[in-house]
Amino acid sequence: MQLAGKVAIVTGGARGVAKGVATAFVKAGAKVLIVDREADLGKATAKELGAFGDVAFMAVDLMDRAALPGIVDEAVRRFGRLDTLVNAAQASQQLLLMDTTTEAMDLAFGTGLWATFLLMQAAHPHLLQSRGSVINFGSGAGIEGMMTQASYGAAKEAIRSLSKTAAVEWGPSGIRVNIICPFANSPGVEMWRQHFPDAYAGQIAKVPLRRIGDCETDIGAAAVFLASDAASYITGQTLMVDGGQLRLP
Ligand SMILES: NC(=O)c1ccc[n+]([C@@H]2O[C@H](COP(=O)([O-])OP(=O)(O)OC[C@H]3O[C@@H](n4cnc5c(N)ncnc54)[C@H](O)[C@@H]3O)[C@@H](O)[C@H]2O)c1
Repeated sequence: MQLAGKVAIVTGGARGVAKGVATAFVKAGAKVLIVDREADLGKATAKELGAFGDVAFMAVDLMDRAALPGIVDEAVRRFGRLDTLVNAAQASQQLLLMDTTTEAMDLAFGTGLWATFLLMQAAHPHLLQSRGSVINFGSGAGIEGMMTQASYGAAKEAIRSLSKTAAVEWGPSGIRVNIICPFANSPGVEMWRQHFPDAYAGQIAKVPLRRIGDCETDIGAAAVFLASDAASYITGQTLMVDGGQLRLP
């Protein structure tokens, strides 16, 4: 129970990687507020995870900037404190650069960078009190550059940069900010596999561990570690939880 007594917000947690993170958090003893725009799926996920501990769900479209501070308020109202903010929600369109529209850029940056930025600002006073942490989600596609990922990759790299600045500014107050770049079997990746089977096969072939990660036992476990006291001397770092496919210098 590495996270016993801690409270977390997990965005995008109705499904996929963030559901895996929420699951691992609850099993580690944390109370979790899952936030997602998919109301039915989110409620079903919260009900499913309720078997392991305290889980609540809040339906929010993260493109609605005015609604974001209310997420932090709800977590604190319900559970009394906030220790960890996990920004994992992300939407994007896969388009070649020359087909990428300003709307596609707005979607990637709105769900990714803006939501991450505004939720970090809203969470800051509570993280100060708990000497808590933030876990943001980047992507190898942003670090390396990948076909059709112009808006997504740019938003993900913006999130990593924001996280590093926050680590430097907030470190003296004891707030840690880290980034996970996962590779895992989410419905989003499954959809990508169906649309681009050759690219998917090529991706698996580049994974030294030769398998795709599991949302809960691989990515969730890494997130529990970063949120726990075991990682109390780690901030500003990008943790590649991708089977070894991208090895940072
Ligand atoms: N799965 C991977 O291998 C992989 C690889 C690199 C990075 N990532 C990152 O990990 C995170 C999770 O990825 P995933 O594959 O599980 O994604 P996914 O597409 O399967 O799930 C994303 C979740 O975010 C929610 N969401 C999207 N837009 C939203 C909005 N406007 N408001 C509220 N919720 C919204 C969706 O409803 C969904 O539940 C993302 O940040 C993604 O960029 C994943």
